[in-house]
Amino acid sequence: MVAHGHGHGLTGLYMAFPAFLLFFQGSALPASPLSSLVHSNNNNDGAILEVKPLVYECGPHCKCPPSCYMRVSQHGIKIKLELFKTESRGWGVRSLESIPVGSFVCEYAGELLEDKQAEVLTGKDEYLFNLGNEEDPFTIDAARKGNIGRFINHSCSPNMYAQDVLYEYDETRIPHVMFFAQEVIRPLEELTYDYNYKIDQVRDSNGNIKKKFCYCGSAECSGRLY
Ligand SMILES: C[S@@+](CC[C@H](N)C(=O)[O-])C[C@H]1O[C@@H](n2cnc3c(N)ncnc32)[C@H](O)[C@@H]1O
Ligand SMILES: [Zn+2]
Ligand SMILES: [Zn+2]
Repeated sequence: MVAHGHGHGLTGLYMAFPAFLLFFQGSALPASPLSSLVHSNNNNDGAILEVKPLVYECGPHCKCPPSCYMRVSQHGIKIKLELFKTESRGWGVRSLESIPVGSFVCEYAGELLEDKQAEVLTGKDEYLFNLGNEEDPFTIDAARKGNIGRFINHSCSPNMYAQDVLYEYDETRIPHVMFFAQEVIRPLEELTYDYNYKIDQVRDSNGNIKKKFCYCGSAECSGRLY
């Protein structure tokens, strides 16, 4: 399977944040202190300034209003985005307006597959996003159903990062994948994130290593997507 997404790379980040920032999947959720703890970890307009293992937005059980700044990504895309044809990487996505650092941009929407199902799918594997939980592996498949997030290309110097977000507390195993601006993004700048493939780890059905060249154009380009 050729799924991009959060690989093992995220695990090392878990300890980089103070314990009170971390709400691990499957843990029991305190009813009221949760939202106040989470509220205090973001700036006042709901921006998230660095990737966290998991972010809880306020959910149906919180008493705060829909306008709460910890309900940012659950309301969907607010920025004017444009699909455009790149020179070397098929379709890409750019913003028509300037995006402040930390802002929510859009979700990676698609059909949720268990990894076993994703593995038997052939063909359109470029739209798979691996949720990266090794014990409970799920993949988002945007080949047949999805949103504009499926057209966002990879860059070795990305301007967005993928953040796992939960707000429906009954389904803690399956976070939403939300893209946030990692830096100020200027109008018409292409939106990108790091697909996080491990070079020489993607194999075809015969077990042969698959290679794909990266055309992100950044000075730090590693030359390969995988
Ligand atoms: C999720 S899709 C992105 C949208 C795609 N460009 C399209 O036209 O539908 C992922 C595919 O886009 C292409 N792609 C994305 N980033 C790339 C990059 N930096 N270099 C080369 N190809 C890239 C690869 O074919 C990859 O499998
Ligand atoms: Zn709230
Ligand atoms: Zn590159």
